[in-house]
This record gives sequence, structure tokens and C-alpha cells, in this order.
Amino acid sequence: MSKKIFIKTYGCQMNEYDSNRIFDSVKKIGFSKTNDNKNADCYLLNTCHIRDKAKEKVYHEVGRVKKLYRDKKKPLMIVAGCVAQAENQEMLKREPYIDYVVGPQSYHKISEIIKNNSINKINSEETDFDTIEKFRYFDKVENHNDKVSSFLTIQEGCDKFCHFCVVPYTRGPEYSRPFKKIINEAEKLIKNGAREITLLGQNVNAYSDKSSSKNYKLSDLILELEKFSELKRIRYTTSHPRDMSEDLIDCYDKSKKLMPFVHLPIQSGSNNILKLMNRKHTVEQYLEIYNKLKKINKSIEFSSDFIVAYPGESEQDFSDTITLVKKIKFINSFSFIFSPRPGTKASELNMIDSKISKDRLEQLQKYLFSHQLKMNKSLINTSIDVLVENQITGQNKLFGRNKYLNPVIFDGEKKEIGKIIKVKIENCNQNSLFGKIDINNTKAA
Ligand code: SAM
Ligand code: SF4
Ligand code: F3S
Repeated sequence: MSKKIFIKTYGCQMNEYDSNRIFDSVKKIGFSKTNDNKNADCYLLNTCHIRDKAKEKVYHEVGRVKKLYRDKKKPLMIVAGCVAQAENQEMLKREPYIDYVVGPQSYHKISEIIKNNSINKINSEETDFDTIEKFRYFDKVENHNDKVSSFLTIQEGCDKFCHFCVVPYTRGPEYSRPFKKIINEAEKLIKNGAREITLLGQNVNAYSDKSSSKNYKLSDLILELEKFSELKRIRYTTSHPRDMSEDLIDCYDKSKKLMPFVHLPIQSGSNNILKLMNRKHTVEQYLEIYNKLKKINKSIEFSSDFIVAYPGESEQDFSDTITLVKKIKFINSFSFIFSPRPGTKASELNMIDSKISKDRLEQLQKYLFSHQLKMNKSLINTSIDVLVENQITGQNKLFGRNKYLNPVIFDGEKKEIGKIIKVKIENCNQNSLFGKIDINNTKAA
């Protein structure tokens, strides 16, 4: 009987991709995936360190696992991801229930660790930045993901060192995978049924593969993926305003499959704060990108990430952020109160009073959410293209997304999965759209 692994994933899309790839690697040594957290041979937590009490959440989760397995054989407990990288040895000292701590650039060692565990029972950590080796290893491990919408990591790590952010310390320096390896993996995903691919990187638009005579960039990848006829949609995330190069902007003109939805984090609408954050771009540069893209295609919409109450943020700085939000009318954004992360420059600065921080977040979200709802409402009674991703468990309802990544829920049969169909929108809330297949207007794709 095969052994079972339970994987719990926190954090960003890259962690989701990583968890799938970790599973692909342990499948080779006879593991199957289980959703039953009470009956696993191996329990893997893929953690995120970006905000709040990330570390404490991991210890609480390990505490819960301990209770679940009180009367049973203990599972092999692995903590992976960005908290593992940041905490390394500390975790093993504080919680001996954890068997292994593995950072994001050492995932290629996980199947070996599991195989050797019965022979060599020692608690240990693997937190080297071994990115090239990791991708070399995974290039030889088949990607079994068969989702209609799949993630594909093309770039990892960050050299930008924004003063608030842990990513350069947890994911290491920027690394871009070789162009051809990415295309091979995309081809496999498309064979498995992918109709949409989202290219991932902490700084995805800084992608640059100079290993051959040509310097391949993100725009080259997009235009190459465009050639796969079964692939219908291409997306990428997360990009940095400084790396929105002209060739990438031109892709919105050249490519028919690149979706007209740009997630471009700005963090603040005040140049003072952007400078204090070490963001390396200004509000004016951001607006220039916005205007160029809107000129190419009026229907392009934007979303962003915001940090409010960054140390030093005055009422005027905050009001500059609101002015920007009113101007750009982002349709779907993430907003957070600044959270000091250990080891980062900003963690040494004086925090803004928590009541002021909460008030500012509330005010910002009021505008962000109202734009989102307004956008959704504007789609009522229109017929929109939806890529059908799956059937909602236990219901006859289908789940898909429109070009702006909004969830769309409607009645329909499984045979529609993987197709782009027209859905007439009848209702909405802030996050989702609800409708019916538009039988008068359905295009098979
Ligand atoms: N590379 C992306 C960029 O340049 O914007 C961001 C990647 S980060 C994983 C995702 C988001 O988390 C950031 O855009 C930021 O808004 C938020 N974030 C990161 N560190 C934070 C902190 N210390 N406090 C609050 N939010 C934070
Ligand atoms: Fe973090 Fe993004 Fe800044 Fe890099 S560019 S340090 S990932 S916020
Ligand atoms: Fe979190 Fe690491 Fe992603 S800190 S957001 S899992 S890069």
C-alpha cells in the first residue's frame, strides 16, 4: 500500500506551485496525496512569512498535529517554505516534534530526506540557496498538474530589497529558469489539460535568460506560449513597476491570449513613502505605465497591492494613496497594514498607532471594494467569456473566471470544463459574478 502525504499550503501562488511539485517528486517514491489530515505518513506544512505572526501560526499548527496523532504513529513532520527558511535551526530547537525544516530552494532534497528517514533518524534542516540545482532536479520530474488553470514558476527570488519585505531573505537572489525548460513544462501542462497558464515569479517581469545567444525575456515567453493552439489564456504575476519594459507593454498589442488584467503592486500613492520603502519607482512612473497600457487597449484593468501605515506615513501621504486609487479605479486589490518583519530594515522603525492604521485600512478598502463592486455590477445583463475551470463539489454549478480573473458561478454540465463559453451575468457581489450559460450566444472554444 502506498504511503500518504498531507500537504497544507499557506501564502502565495508560488507556494501552491511548489506544493504540487513537491508532491510530483514524492510520488516517484511511492507516495499518494491525502486530504485526510488525521491519517498521513508524512505531514508537510508549506509556510509563508510575509506578514503577522507567521512563525506562531506554524507552531500552533504543529501543536494541532501533535494532538491529532496523540494515539497514533507520529507522521514524519516537515516544515517547508519561507518560515522554514527564516527560522531554520530555531524551529528544531523549539519544537522537537518537527523532523525536518526545508527552505524553498532545497525542495529537490525532500524525497531523499523521506527515503533516508527510516535509516537516519535525525532532525535536520536544509536551507541552502541551491536554486539552480533545485530547478535542474525538477526539470526531470514530470509535472502532473492537470488543472484547467495552471501555475508555472519561471523566476524566483528577489534582488530589490524593499525595506518592508522578507522575500529576498527567504527566497534568495533572483534566478530565471532556462527558456526552453519553461516551454517544455508548459507543453506538458497543456497536454494535461491546461487552457490557461499563469507565469509566476516574485519579480516575474524581471525574467531574463541569457544562457544562449538571445536574451529571452518575459515577452518572449508570452509570445512563444501564444503559439500553442490549445492554450487560450496567458497571465503573469507578480510584476514590479520598474520592470514593465516596452517589449512587455507591447505584448498587450501583439498577443491575443495575454489577458487585459495587470496586477501591478504600487504599495503607496506617495513618493515620500515609496522612497522610504526603497521601492525604486515613483507614482509618476506608475501612471506612465498605466497610460501606455490604456492607450494600447482601453479595456485593460488594474489591480495592486497596498501597504498602509508604513512607518512615517503622514495624513498627506495616506491621502495621496486615496487620490491614486480614485484615479486608477483598481478593480481587485490586496491591502494590508504594515507588519514589521524580522531582519528587514523597516522592522527597526517606529510603528504608527494601531487605531490610526486600522482607520486608514478601512478607508482605503472602502474605495477599493466600491470600485470592485461597481465593476462587477457593470457586467450585469452582459454576456461575458468565461473559462470553465471545474464543477463545484456536490452541486450542478460550474466555476470559471472572466478575463479580469473574477470568479463566475453558473448552472452547467461537466462537459463544459476547459472551454471558454459565454455566460449572461444576472447578479453579483463584491467578489463573484452569477449567471446562466448564454445559449443564444455560445461560442465553442
Ligand atoms: N514582488 C511584489 C512587489 O514588488 O510588489 C510583491 C510580493 S509580496 C510576496 C506580496 C505583497 O505582500 C506585497 O506587494 C506587499 O503589499 C505585501 N507585503 C510584503 N511585506 C509586507 C509587510 N511587511 N507588511 C505588510 N504587507 C507586506
Ligand atoms: Fe519584496 Fe517585491 Fe520588494 Fe522584492 S520587489 S523585496 S518581493 S516587495
Ligand atoms: Fe509568503 Fe514566501 Fe510567498 S513569504 S508570499 S510564501 S514568497
